[in-house]
Amino acid sequence: MQKASRAWKKKGLQVALVPTMGALHEGHLALIRRAKTLADRVVVSAYVNPTQFNSKADLRKYPQSPRHDAALAGRAGADVLFRPGNLYAQDASTWVEETDCSRGRCGDRRPGHFRGVATVVTKLFNLVQPDVAVFGHKDRQQCEVIERIVRDLFLPVRIVCHPVVRERDGLPQSTRNRRLSPAQRGVAGQWSRILAKAARMGKGRADAAYRQGVKRMPGLRSEYAETSGGHLHVAARIGSVRLIDHRPLGRRR
Ligand code: PAJ
Repeated sequence: MQKASRAWKKKGLQVALVPTMGALHEGHLALIRRAKTLADRVVVSAYVNPTQFNSKADLRKYPQSPRHDAALAGRAGADVLFRPGNLYAQDASTWVEETDCSRGRCGDRRPGHFRGVATVVTKLFNLVQPDVAVFGHKDRQQCEVIERIVRDLFLPVRIVCHPVVRERDGLPQSTRNRRLSPAQRGVAGQWSRILAKAARMGKGRADAAYRQGVKRMPGLRSEYAETSGGHLHVAARIGSVRLIDHRPLGRRR
């Protein structure tokens, strides 16, 4: 991968990276299309990174669909689907840890998660050597962490964050949505509408309105609701599926 990237750069071509864990869906494809507008060559990485999972069961259940991914990524404009083998030596002892943006929200509920993300993204940057990398705002805290690492470590890559791609009822597209039963999927849609409505009520009222709204939802367990940076950020579990989302405060969408 490093060799290919260096050869492109020798020819003066710009390289974009879209890091994913595979099982591509419309949300990922939007990122690939965006990357295509930013560079001459687009690399999509698909690597299920074990160090960012909090539970072995979640890691085990994570779907993999390499053939389907290759077809979709190619159609969306990717030049390479990069599927590295194991990226961790058995005695790997080097980690990238960001200690400010990774606090709060998902960082508090998923200990070690952002350390795993930061480490693997740094490895992928070193392997692909992209001029630009595209991430999704769906994982907003992840974007904040990556932007901070790039700034603090002077990594020579530009970070672009793309808006959330949603289903018709407002639920963000996500690999984990596939694990919802039809009834749970209905609850997830309702959850999404409650979030959007609560956020429109603006700072000071949004989180209380959200908490009230989700209080009696069947099978849903709220994890957090926080306002910061002009957004209402929430996480909840429906059965074993963890969902996250955020909406701008006080604006109509
Ligand atoms: P993954 O969950 O596969 O997501 C890959 C990228 O797609 C992330 O930047 C994510 O924010 C973005 N994405 C997913 N669903 C989206 C949606 N509905 N709208 C917009 N963007 C969306 O995030 C990861 O993988 C991993 O943590 C990774 C960065 C690859 C490191 O292992």
